[in-house]
Amino acid sequence: MAVSPLHKSLFVVICIGVSFFMLTLIAVHQPQQTGYLGGGNSMEELLAGRSISVKIDDAVVANISDRVLESIRTDTTLCSAIRETNLPMIYLITPTYKRPEQIPDLTRLAQTLMHVPSITWLIIEDAESLSPVVTEILKRSGIRYVHLIAPMPAEQKKKKVKARGVSNRNKGLDWVRENYVDTRGVVYFADDDNTYDLRLFDEIRTVEKVGMWPVGLITHFGVSSPVVRDGRVTGFYDGWVANRKYAVDMAGFAVSVDTILQFPDLKMPFVPGYEEDGFLKGLSLKLEDIEPKADNCTKIYVWHTQTKKNKNPIKANQTVYEFTNVWSLYEQIEM
Ligand code: UGA
Ligand code: MN
Repeated sequence: MAVSPLHKSLFVVICIGVSFFMLTLIAVHQPQQTGYLGGGNSMEELLAGRSISVKIDDAVVANISDRVLESIRTDTTLCSAIRETNLPMIYLITPTYKRPEQIPDLTRLAQTLMHVPSITWLIIEDAESLSPVVTEILKRSGIRYVHLIAPMPAEQKKKKVKARGVSNRNKGLDWVRENYVDTRGVVYFADDDNTYDLRLFDEIRTVEKVGMWPVGLITHFGVSSPVVRDGRVTGFYDGWVANRKYAVDMAGFAVSVDTILQFPDLKMPFVPGYEEDGFLKGLSLKLEDIEPKADNCTKIYVWHTQTKKNKNPIKANQTVYEFTNVWSLYEQIEM
């Protein structure tokens, strides 16, 4: 019978696990007596509880963990998350700001990113100070994160149509330039309200210069995507071209750290609707430089979902509710 590498590895892991468990069990039951594993006791004696010598030597533990790790490492069918250390780093730049939907949106995004190995999540608030509620989400996620503020400039705030998330993204770009640890790394602008399929991150990670892919739920076309012919990007399909050279959404591209470093002064412009186009033009690309990802742009792995706007809630009456659970709920709501 053919035995797959996965079965082989699982068998080794299970055997080691069961032995380890049994030996630990015996050790727990015989705490006052110590000795070293491998001192001539048969498994029967150990199982019968007659043996007394079960303090496991550090060298033995190291040996067991090495063997487990080795079997995981050499098995290509196992989850890539386990081999995390070998993967290029993805620098995810997420602009965010205070509103009733902020906490649910960030909860959802954090709990998506918890499944993604080798990421640094730059969460950058358009605010004057860091929100403790946001910090709490970041801490609990266990994700490697950087939490910064980058308030929208006053002259932008006054405008009727604002360039959203731009000061945040520029702050993130500067951070990456100063603090990157991996030149194979890739930068991606991940807005806080989109829906991300985990397969997107595998695509992002393979970007060498600039990668692009389709984004669902954009304009009345329902999708925005590079147009790919014979494996090459030849133009863009988007419901709002508006004289843009790169008619793409913010979620539809990623750029390598290497490329970002080649343009040390490049910033995203404060021009509503033209943020992506302005930024990409600054990279002096040729169409043939663009790597069509997601199976030659035939798969949608990210959606411009947009959370429904809610009215700012009315805070509960303090005199009635201050010493009840109701009051504490408002500490968990950003408004
Ligand atoms: C679309 C694009 O998907 C955005 O990437 C682009 O920045 C935006 O249009 C634009 O052209 O202004 P849209 O869904 O309409 O995005 O915008 P939002 O989701 O409201 O904002 C984009 C990002 O900026 C979000 O992560 C949001 O949290 C953040 N943002 C928004 C701020 O930091 N400050 C704000 O005042 C508003
Ligand atoms: Mn959005």
